[in-house]
Amino acid sequence: MGALTFLARRFVAGDSADQAIAVVRRLNVRGIRATLDFLGEETLSREAAAKSADEIISLLRKIGEAKVDSNVSVKLTQFGMALDPLLAKAHMVRILKEAAANGNFVRIDMEGSAYTQKTLDLFLELFPKFPNCGVVLQAYLRRSAADVERLNAAGAKVRLCKGAYKEPASVAFPGKAEVDRSYDELARELLAKGCQPAIATHDDARIAAAQSAAADAGLSKDKYEFQMLYGLRQARWHELAAEGHIVRIYVPYGTHWLPYYYRRIRERKENLLFVVKNLWRG
Ligand code: FDA
Repeated sequence: MGALTFLARRFVAGDSADQAIAVVRRLNVRGIRATLDFLGEETLSREAAAKSADEIISLLRKIGEAKVDSNVSVKLTQFGMALDPLLAKAHMVRILKEAAANGNFVRIDMEGSAYTQKTLDLFLELFPKFPNCGVVLQAYLRRSAADVERLNAAGAKVRLCKGAYKEPASVAFPGKAEVDRSYDELARELLAKGCQPAIATHDDARIAAAQSAAADAGLSKDKYEFQMLYGLRQARWHELAAEGHIVRIYVPYGTHWLPYYYRRIRERKENLLFVVKNLWRG
């Protein structure tokens, strides 16, 4: 890794797909699954969008060849959503065909609120043809209760997270308590009526609420999963896996790590402290 990338080492598995796959293999050995993320967003040229999509197609092939247990997570702005939604759609179709050929699954991450509707529209257009894709909803958005209902009715696979972007109070709950309440309510709905929901959080109170909602819905542990980010709460991954839960870790790689890294620091100051301490350790 380059000198700058050293800063992000805690959260990023390496510069290359091969390095990231080696990390996934180590997780798999301990019974943990992965979703690989080739870092990139807000791509502003057609060439860069095509390169990102090519990388993900090659990643899907490498996952198949390496026989590791990992799907992939992508962002539509990686494929030029900001430039031209049809361009992003064309790249998604290429990726989903490759994933289907490899028996794999693609999760479309959710980005800032300017993209929520566009992301859900494209997802709902692709999903009937490509059931091997899923999407993400953010509990901080006021609209998410209606989106959960719509996606449950469509039989879609949803990952629920709190939401990582800076949003105005007109679209997102401003307070932590409201976001937490929204998270628990949406998780309950997804667990009761959804399809293989993914509960993505490091927050023990949210995990406990989801576990009790899953028990109330009579769900066995193979019908939902917990997801966390690479570099955060590693001991907790193993505890959940030891309890028989499916645990999947979001493993980013690549050199375009700054926006991802910035979101991790902004949501939790201790993450910065960790990086600074490690700088001194050398
Ligand atoms: P939050 O950061 O609110 O922390 C709540 C509590 O959890 C803390 O008070 C503490 O008790 C505990 N905790 C958190 N981190 C800890 C640590 N390191 N050590 C000990 N305790 C800790 N966002 C988005 O907008 N779009 C997306 O597509 C995704 N995708 C995604 C995938 C996956 C797998 C995950 C886990 C997350 C995302 N996110 C995301 C990010 C998400 O929206 C959110 O920003 C972060 O997960 C942080 O929120 P938490 O729910 O973890 O709790």
